[in-house]
Amino acid sequence: MADSERRAFAWLDVIWLLFLGGLAVLPPIGEIHKQETLLAIALLQIFENDFVRRAGPRGRAYDVFIKILLATLLVVYTGEINSSYYLIYYLPIVTAAMYFGPIQTLLWTGVAVVAYWSNLIPALQANPDADVDFPELALRSFFCFLFAIVVNRVVTESRRQAEALADTNRRLKAAEAEARRSERLAALGQMSAGLAHELRNPLGVIKGSAELLGKRVNPSDPLATEMASNISLEVNRLNVLVSRFLDFVRPSHLERRPANLEAIVDQALKAVHDRWPEAPVSVERHYAANLPAVPVDAELCERVFTNLFSNAYEAVPPSEGRIRVAITPVGRGRGLSALAGAEADRAGIMVEIEDNGPGVPPEIREQIFNPFFTTKKSGVGLGLSIVSKIMDDHHGWIRISSPRGSAGPNDGEPQGALFRVFFPAE
Ligand SMILES: Nc1ncnc2c1ncn2[C@@H]1O[C@H](COP(=O)(O)OP(=O)(O)OP(=O)(O)O)[C@@H](O)[C@H]1O
Ligand SMILES: [Mg+2]
Repeated sequence: MADSERRAFAWLDVIWLLFLGGLAVLPPIGEIHKQETLLAIALLQIFENDFVRRAGPRGRAYDVFIKILLATLLVVYTGEINSSYYLIYYLPIVTAAMYFGPIQTLLWTGVAVVAYWSNLIPALQANPDADVDFPELALRSFFCFLFAIVVNRVVTESRRQAEALADTNRRLKAAEAEARRSERLAALGQMSAGLAHELRNPLGVIKGSAELLGKRVNPSDPLATEMASNISLEVNRLNVLVSRFLDFVRPSHLERRPANLEAIVDQALKAVHDRWPEAPVSVERHYAANLPAVPVDAELCERVFTNLFSNAYEAVPPSEGRIRVAITPVGRGRGLSALAGAEADRAGIMVEIEDNGPGVPPEIREQIFNPFFTTKKSGVGLGLSIVSKIMDDHHGWIRISSPRGSAGPNDGEPQGALFRVFFPAE
């Protein structure tokens, strides 16, 4: 316990003693049992926290119960049902309201009220015709319940506020930690982007020199020819890695203009086809009619599709590759049942790219969007990371879904991968 808390408790204890001392010097002063009961109440009040802690899981219930007993004793020793000390029952009632929820508070208040009414028994036994003021007793009882509920509400509300404050504090701390982490990552990203950029120049020189060397070496020396071509090959790989890495870390400056996604998709398809002109891949296009233009950065947007189509080209079987591309407007009542709730309410355009490759096994679906995750021999693992970064910048999304099977060899047989990207209209 903090020092300040301990001091506050010490003060409260003094105040308790003062008030109970005040009750002690009020009539009936000579009633020794009354004084003993007041002393017991004072002791319980002072050592309440210790008592509750040591009494175990039911400590709080025992605390309230003992207070009801002591309150009843005080009333018994000060005039029974006519005692003016009946207000002492507020003590267990407030305690219950602080410890428990509304139902239990009301139950404990009921127990206190029954204990108070039990004082009627000796009075009625002594004189069955005694003149009892029942309305007054009922009034006092109802006030007990009213008081219990009000205190319970106040306590619950302040506890809720304290919890909300603690929760806000926790979230603030988490956000601060996250911000520090992002700052460090951003610094690291900047540094490595600079490094990657600097690597490009020497790589260019090495590549040029290797090519020159390849031309100059004596063709009758196969080892020298092979080494020169190895240098070119590996430098090319490094160049690809550096360019893709730069694509990924470079902060993107979006220049959004209304554009037709069909044209961008077709351009990307052509670019990827030009990379693998010999690949036996058939492309099936399902573009909805009269698609509205959406505000996108056309260059970045094309990069999204070239990455997705490249992955599809790399995934499809070499004998008979099939890619299905669908562009549909979604949101505001239109679109796929695959979109649930709030997502279906955002208007925009969705592009689906489905291939008849082996698909993405469920156990790696979470990871494929992570930077440098690849299952390919010569892959860098940045394609989908770049795509998801661009989609985030556009306030859209990319998702991998369960394939519908229409691109597979047999309709209805789930196979292949299905990627969905969504560009919002606003
Ligand atoms: N159409 C697809 N079919 C099957 N697996 C896929 C498909 N697209 C992506 N993947 C899986 O996701 C992984 C990550 O893809 P990503 O495009 O990010 O990197 P990569 O293609 O391996 O390398 P690169 O950086 O050259 O694109 C791939 O290695 C592959 O395992
Ligand atoms: Mg890729």
